[in-house]
Amino acid sequence: MLLMPARSAPPGATPAAAYEQRLEAALAARQARGMLRALDPAPPAETLLVDFSSNDYISFARSRELRQKLLSVLTEDTKVYGPPSSRLLDGNSPAHAALEHRLADFFLAPAALLFNSGFDANVGLWTCLADRADWIVFDELVHASMHDGMRASRVLSARRLAFKHNSSADLARTLEKLVREDRGVASGTKSVWIGVESLYSMDGDLAPLLDIVETVERALPRGNGHVIVDEAHSTGLYGPDGRGLVCALGLEDRVLVRVHTFGKAMACSGAAVLASPLIRNYLINYARPLIYSTTMTYLSVLAIDKSLEMLEQGRANERAARVHGLATRLVTRLAAALPETGPTGSNDLVLPPHLLAIAASTATAVSSSSSQSAPDPTSRTRRLTVRRAPGAAVTVPATSPIVPLLTRSPRPLSAYLRTKGYLVRPITYPTVPRGEERIRVCLHAENTERDVDGLVEALRGWVRSGAGANKEEVAGSHEGETKRLAKKAAGERQAAVAMKARL
Ligand SMILES: Cc1ncc(COP(=O)(O)O)c(C=O)c1O
Repeated sequence: MLLMPARSAPPGATPAAAYEQRLEAALAARQARGMLRALDPAPPAETLLVDFSSNDYISFARSRELRQKLLSVLTEDTKVYGPPSSRLLDGNSPAHAALEHRLADFFLAPAALLFNSGFDANVGLWTCLADRADWIVFDELVHASMHDGMRASRVLSARRLAFKHNSSADLARTLEKLVREDRGVASGTKSVWIGVESLYSMDGDLAPLLDIVETVERALPRGNGHVIVDEAHSTGLYGPDGRGLVCALGLEDRVLVRVHTFGKAMACSGAAVLASPLIRNYLINYARPLIYSTTMTYLSVLAIDKSLEMLEQGRANERAARVHGLATRLVTRLAAALPETGPTGSNDLVLPPHLLAIAASTATAVSSSSSQSAPDPTSRTRRLTVRRAPGAAVTVPATSPIVPLLTRSPRPLSAYLRTKGYLVRPITYPTVPRGEERIRVCLHAENTERDVDGLVEALRGWVRSGAGANKEEVAGSHEGETKRLAKKAAGERQAAVAMKARL
């Protein structure tokens, strides 16, 4: 469907304005490349389809208990609307300040600062923290908001370096080169800002966070390497009571800044930057999305407050354990189902290597020494044992609610799954690199085992029918890429143990 067909003005009519011609040409070009974005006119997932798409991982958005908590504090006198002002003017209410204190306490951080969204938080902090002579080093797959912040910073593009996704070896090489070539980095007068996510939203894999922190500390022993972790997708799912991966690994004091967003597992919107009081003060002075924007409403503050209360009361634990159990079920069943449906390499559906490794790894029971005290209802969840700083081991779930499946036909496959009753979104370039198009299954605490098994069956049916092979929609070399990934995946199955080294 072409949203706006390129217009050629009928004879005598006023020609389209220059900007209209330009906008229409840009949209038409996007459509020709199969990249046109459009808002989904379909009703929300829960009304018709099984939701394998939203970020409501622990199903807080559907929780009656959470809803009731919010309703119970709404009285005649409760402030709900406003404050219609920036935080810097009349928007600094006691409610906003109190929420920040509670967030700092819960996430074991010295201070917290609210932003209207995770996007604003990342843009705000990445734009202003680094100095002109500093370096920025980031995982190649970090979120667009971090990229926008980095681009708007004083650090020119030649001083912003990507390292290979989740490769602490490549990070080490990058940092060692900086130490060799820039005396300011070696002497500690210039800072290196390192940006990663704890759980990557398109791949669903965890960062090897302890390795990353140790790598930075080793390469920059003068303390001028500063790790910033975006915990958007790990909040509520990892760490004690959902505090995130940094807390799960005991890295609170070795990571300089954390971003927790409220729009995923916490079912609200907004974000908090967790950092020192100094950084908080600096952001209040220089983070433009905070300074030049109306602060979040009292209603948002209340909603976040109640969601946080759920975490504090341990109400996320069982839900998170259930998500990890469902993820284990989905991944192991897909790993078993997909090779069956065609010779390796000719499948149009490929589980990425890290998921095959999880499927191949041995199930372990939840460690009683784990700081995650939640009972695991399936007792089958795959967990990773990680050396927890400063010495003790801790286990964290190896799984995540995000299960990507590489395919040449993300859109036709997503449409097919809709006909079977499942909402699974296609993810295409430029959100992911060319040749890595996929569908992305997002699991939720309130999905059932039946939902998961039904999805596996539908996917098996798709592959068996060969539908994907006839519906190639992705231009270019995707076929080769899919085969390459399939081969790589088969090889990496052997390396299941290597998973342990990844955290
Ligand atoms: C890793 C990551 N960081 C930040 C954001 C932005 O957060 P928000 O949706 O609160 O703006 C997202 C959103 O998808 C994300 O995936």
